[in-house]
Amino acid sequence: MPDTFVQSTDDVVKFLKDQHNLIKDLFEEVFSASTAKAREKAFVELRQLLAVHETAEEMVVHPRARREVAEGDEIVDARLHEEHAAKEQLSKLESMDVGSDEFITELAKFREAVVDHAEREEHEEFDKLHRKLDADDLERMVKAVQAAEAIAPTRPHPGVESAGLNFAVGPFASMLDRARDLIGAALR
Ligand SMILES: [Fe+2]
Ligand SMILES: [Fe+2]
Repeated sequence: MPDTFVQSTDDVVKFLKDQHNLIKDLFEEVFSASTAKAREKAFVELRQLLAVHETAEEMVVHPRARREVAEGDEIVDARLHEEHAAKEQLSKLESMDVGSDEFITELAKFREAVVDHAEREEHEEFDKLHRKLDADDLERMVKAVQAAEAIAPTRPHPGVESAGLNFAVGPFASMLDRARDLIGAALR
């Protein structure tokens, strides 16, 4: 996992909001890259961050929000739907030439969708979840999110929005138990 993904905070909502800002910065980098090579590099970093970020939300944060937040099921189902659509957009971008005008046009649409999704998460889900959790919980969930990000696939997999499946496809069996413990503790 690149160093830029590692942040130290004891509040899961702050952690995720910081990552949203990092995602926005990486979009800027992809757009402003002066060579195709630099654009490719920034895009790969963006894609990896998005993949691990969304996986951690799907494993740790959304299940907890379902339980804690009023109308949690409705809110989380809408977020999962957006995440699935984003993964499909990302798969399409992956098959394109980063030096082409079409790539930039698609990337602009993708950024809009990702930023809208992040804002809805922050306002409709995370802020409400924050009000329901105490400091210990918020800290436990940072650890669980970090553990999930460490074992998450770094490429998007549309259709594996369920936590169970993400566990099943994780490549590092030895890390899974520890991650599962941390995540299990955060979900209780
Ligand atoms: Fe998300
Ligand atoms: Fe997010």
